[in-house]
Amino acid sequence: MKLGRLNHVGVATPSIENSLALYKTMFGAEPHGPAFDLPAQGVRVCFVDTPNSQIELIEPFGEDSPVQKFLEKNPLGGQHHVCFEVPDIHAAKAEFEAKGARVLGEPRVGAHGTLVFFVHPRDMGGVLTEIMETPAAA
Ligand code: CO
Repeated sequence: MKLGRLNHVGVATPSIENSLALYKTMFGAEPHGPAFDLPAQGVRVCFVDTPNSQIELIEPFGEDSPVQKFLEKNPLGGQHHVCFEVPDIHAAKAEFEAKGARVLGEPRVGAHGTLVFFVHPRDMGGVLTEIMETPAAA
């Protein structure tokens, strides 16, 4: 498997609005677009562009959001996951599993409209790792 581009760093926050205000104050950064809900993943999302990647601000959405548990341990929010691109999502999943890594669920449509899956942090040196099929336009 070829490790692709770092697509984004996921940052959990209790308030996307407050985080956007912080990025604007500290960096003069603007959101890539409006925040949107991903009910299947239990998150509300907003991206901030950097010259070589993006920050994905994620806020809990609905009940039993995985981000809610993270925020209970980290009330201020914090770095939640990193996301790398791969050319073929199904091949990547098979390869992770063949190497004994725990893939969390089946590939599903992520925030960029392409298929993603997550690899358990215990099998990635403590880092929750999102694998994303490279968006066609990239
Ligand atoms: Co992500």
